[in-house]
Amino acid sequence: MKKILFVTSEAHPLIKTGGLADVSGSLPKALAELGTDIRIIIPNYRAIKTSEDIYYKSTLRINGTDVNILETRLPDSDIIVWLVDYPKFFGFPGNPYVNEQGQEWGNNAERFTLFCRVATEIAMNRAYLNWQPDIVHGNDWQSGLVPALLSLEAWHPATVFTIHNMAYQGIFPKSTNTVLDLPESLWTVDGIEYHGQLSFLKSGIAYADHITTVSPTYAQEIQTAAFGYGLEGLLSYRNADLTGIINGIDTEQWNPETDTYLDTPFSSATLSKRLANKLALQAHMALPVDKKIPVFGLISRLVEQKGIDMLLNCLSEMLALPLQFVLLGSGDKDFEEQLLAFAAAHPEKMAVKLGYSEGLAHLIEAGVDVFLMPSRFEPCGLNQIYSQRYGAIPVVRKTGGLADTVTDTTLNSLQDHTATGIVFNDTNSGTLMEAIKRALVLYSQPKLWKQLQITGMDKSYSWQLSAQHYMDLYNRVVDANQ
Ligand code: ADP
Ligand code: GLC
Repeated sequence: MKKILFVTSEAHPLIKTGGLADVSGSLPKALAELGTDIRIIIPNYRAIKTSEDIYYKSTLRINGTDVNILETRLPDSDIIVWLVDYPKFFGFPGNPYVNEQGQEWGNNAERFTLFCRVATEIAMNRAYLNWQPDIVHGNDWQSGLVPALLSLEAWHPATVFTIHNMAYQGIFPKSTNTVLDLPESLWTVDGIEYHGQLSFLKSGIAYADHITTVSPTYAQEIQTAAFGYGLEGLLSYRNADLTGIINGIDTEQWNPETDTYLDTPFSSATLSKRLANKLALQAHMALPVDKKIPVFGLISRLVEQKGIDMLLNCLSEMLALPLQFVLLGSGDKDFEEQLLAFAAAHPEKMAVKLGYSEGLAHLIEAGVDVFLMPSRFEPCGLNQIYSQRYGAIPVVRKTGGLADTVTDTTLNSLQDHTATGIVFNDTNSGTLMEAIKRALVLYSQPKLWKQLQITGMDKSYSWQLSAQHYMDLYNRVVDANQ
């Protein structure tokens, strides 16, 4: 049985800021079902929530300080989770990356270097856990130093590194290294050095045996200057070791038939029950309760990646149309204020909930008619998948995983019953507006609308296929590592 150490900075339901948590909470379960012994390592943040027991396992001495490893389970599973317990770094309120005021932790380089060092010790079976993984699977910049640190060992487990987002690279000034004390031998242009600075993401890409990202289209895009954030050259160079594997979803947590957050559960066979959720959502958001008016929705981190600026540019025009708009998100303060101002000026048409709410996110997916995702780039994106499974029609920009998971509505795709949404090309509010209008035209044709809903709902989004891709990849990298 393959042993895998899954290194991640967030995992649902323990702690979540975005899609990485969804993936870290669901892919390991799918890999366990395929017959692997997979264990997760994550920092023991103050904000971690669980009702599972937590045990003390061991103490490691890392660069002169004692770090404890605690053990728990991923809720509703048998998967072991090791928590890196170092309260001086992780014992504060706030989220994994920012404090309660939304500012990045000033010592993020130190926090995640420590995390990577502990993961490396576990990977080398030096953490008194009596467990030797065959593969170390890291995710995003926070685990990027692990392949570099492992490269210093005479033998080490095979390494896979998954990029969930090129926009976050973990770049720190060279002077940080005085504190981090990373070996000089890693400071090369093919190593962790990036234009005179330290790059965690580059480290993962440069040293991992294999790199994956979360959709085939994004795997191509990041090899170009527009999406590569300066690492497109390195990514093209490593092209033979770079694979795009589309994310699956947790089909138990995101199941409209059993979802306890909904007003009324439903399925593609009982689609008429869905309406109750729309009415409940309108009531919850204090919008006029009206079954006829199309309700648009958006759930997102409010950052430029998600095309929020594009949306703001056409919001007046959009709100002049016969529709309602519900938005749940948090992020950039400026975006938050502008969105609140629009909602205040149009209380009959738009409602905004700032903050994070798992329950409301589920109700929005079940209640809206149209789900907007005008992302500038989107490595995979999960909400457009949840939307399809919940009978909401996604309107998405043709990029990354959005391009790979939503089929645009055309004469052909209607005829062969593959259409599931509306896909638009350009990053400007004019094309977004056109797409919104296309959605309205389609909404006025209930038979076609229902066809799209059912096609989307009946598609398979489980991890089964993608987890098998990871398995095949693990087998290949382990063979090559012998
Ligand atoms: P990203 O990881 O870039 O934020 P994804 O689409 O992959 O984008 O995943 C976002 C995840 O976070 C989804 O599960 C989405 O429902 C959730 N999410 C984002 N913002 C909120 C919020 N304000 N409240 C609840 N869930 C949210
Ligand atoms: C990132 C990406 C998102 C992806 C998620 C999980 O946060 O922005 O597109 O779905 O990771 O892989």
